[in-house]
Amino acid sequence: MRGIILAGGTATRLKPLTEVVNKHLLPVYNKPVIYYTLEKMAQAGIKDVLITTGAEHSGEFLNLLRSGKEFGLQISYEVQDEPRGLSDAVSLAEDFADNKKILVILGDNVFSHDLRPAVEKFKQQEKGAMIFAIPMKNPSQYGVVEIKEGKVVSLEEKPKNPKSDLVQTGIYMYDNQVFNLIKTLKPSTRGELEITDLNNLYLKQGQLSCEIMSGWWVDIGTSFDELYRANKLVAEKK
Ligand code: TTP
Repeated sequence: MRGIILAGGTATRLKPLTEVVNKHLLPVYNKPVIYYTLEKMAQAGIKDVLITTGAEHSGEFLNLLRSGKEFGLQISYEVQDEPRGLSDAVSLAEDFADNKKILVILGDNVFSHDLRPAVEKFKQQEKGAMIFAIPMKNPSQYGVVEIKEGKVVSLEEKPKNPKSDLVQTGIYMYDNQVFNLIKTLKPSTRGELEITDLNNLYLKQGQLSCEIMSGWWVDIGTSFDELYRANKLVAEKK
């Protein structure tokens, strides 16, 4: 399998911290944010990782991460010219993926769960996609996942009456249909190719499964409080 880390976007919610510095290069305790996703890729047994980011910051990633040897990875880089959404960023990996299955992680997610068992399971699976969810106390602030017998039956964005306490994280696995499916997507009202629309295509085909994560998970891009919570969780673990 091949790995893709999305590290573009505009990071509006963390301004002014992200006015000059890319969100994925901000510190979480003793490391830049993107180190955590790279370590998760290596732990999952992935060897080849593509980082996608905007042109204005791509040189910084190259200076910091170089070939990826330090992480036991082979890192490649792609420029996303405009932040046209997560599915648009994933589409840049078509050649890199070389018809293999892919593990996609949003570069602003920091978490404790070991992805390897799910990756091994997904490799054995003939086709489909897998998302990762975790129980949260305040599910209605997130995308909520409803599961029956291991299969996802609904995905709802910030529902008033959530059907479960499982919220969707920024970790996804796709088979090699993914690039053709992205080509069928239309931009949303905010002008982006949405990852939710992509996942819904798999859902409609009955090909979307979900792995429930243990431990803790933070999307540091949501707010300063969440960035602070990630710092605290990592520091406490040390
Ligand atoms: P978001 O946090 O949804 O978007 P953002 O980073 O632009 O932040 P804000 O909403 O505060 O302006 O993005 C989730 C992840 O995906 C994040 O790690 C950045 C990445 N991303 C891309 O790589 N390309 C894109 O076009 C977008 C929108 C996001």
